[in-house]
Amino acid sequence: MVMKTTMNNLEKPKFFGRRKGRIIHKAKSFLLDSFLPCMLLDSTHKNNMAECFGVSKSKYYLEIGFGDGDHLAALAKRMPDVGFVGVEVYQNGVAQLLSLLTGLKKGNPEDLQQVALETGRADNVRIYNDDVRLLFDALPDAAFDKIYLLFPDPWPKKRHAERRFINPDNLKELARLLKKGGILQVATDHPIYKRWTLETMHNNPHFRWTAKTSDDWRNPPADWVETKYQRKAVREGRRPVFFEFERL
Ligand SMILES: C[S@@+](CC[C@H](N)C(=O)[O-])C[C@H]1O[C@@H](n2cnc3c(N)ncnc32)[C@H](O)[C@@H]1O
Repeated sequence: MVMKTTMNNLEKPKFFGRRKGRIIHKAKSFLLDSFLPCMLLDSTHKNNMAECFGVSKSKYYLEIGFGDGDHLAALAKRMPDVGFVGVEVYQNGVAQLLSLLTGLKKGNPEDLQQVALETGRADNVRIYNDDVRLLFDALPDAAFDKIYLLFPDPWPKKRHAERRFINPDNLKELARLLKKGGILQVATDHPIYKRWTLETMHNNPHFRWTAKTSDDWRNPPADWVETKYQRKAVREGRRPVFFEFERL
């Protein structure tokens, strides 16, 4: 029998962050066990995003490392015609996104009939609850109009630099996945990651930094939705920056 996998164990990239945190309470546990399967992206190789998504959308956006999902949930509500793919390894974060999408916060639901997307929400979010690098191969070229990478783990120590998500290998994949003219939106509050991002992106021939004045990267774009890490950074006195790179 031939076992088909996107990546064999030898190639599986190492993940250094947390996969699971504090206890997940009953309602969220139920969401993870029973509702998540209805929301998963089809991660077997497909020729186009409509097939991955199971429904055709006017545009597709990807958010890598959505954390607690507040940014993703708010944008998906605002733009029902856009298909959002959210990727997060941290299972508590995935559970929190499901809670935002369904409005289920507490309680002890017994069967799936009791859970649904919040009233008024379009069916426009698909989730991949593992390392995004394992998903890359399954996604078609030019799949996305926009990719968000918001407050990626900075790994500030020099000896951990190779763990930073912005690196030539990942950028090669992001360049393949973005449509020409598509946008890679990066936000960070860490001084080392700010410099690292600009330097690494500058050396990449597939992207162009769009900023014309310092206001363009010091201030968030219009209609920005704050993330949990952004709020934490501001509380602790760090100033986030917002870099937008166009796929050439
Ligand atoms: C510092 S947190 C930021 C979370 C969120 N974007 C925010 O701004 O609140 C970085 C997140 O990226 C996730 N992450 C890191 N590497 C990832 C990967 N390779 N694939 C998917 N998620 C990843 C982590 O699990 C973590 O939740």
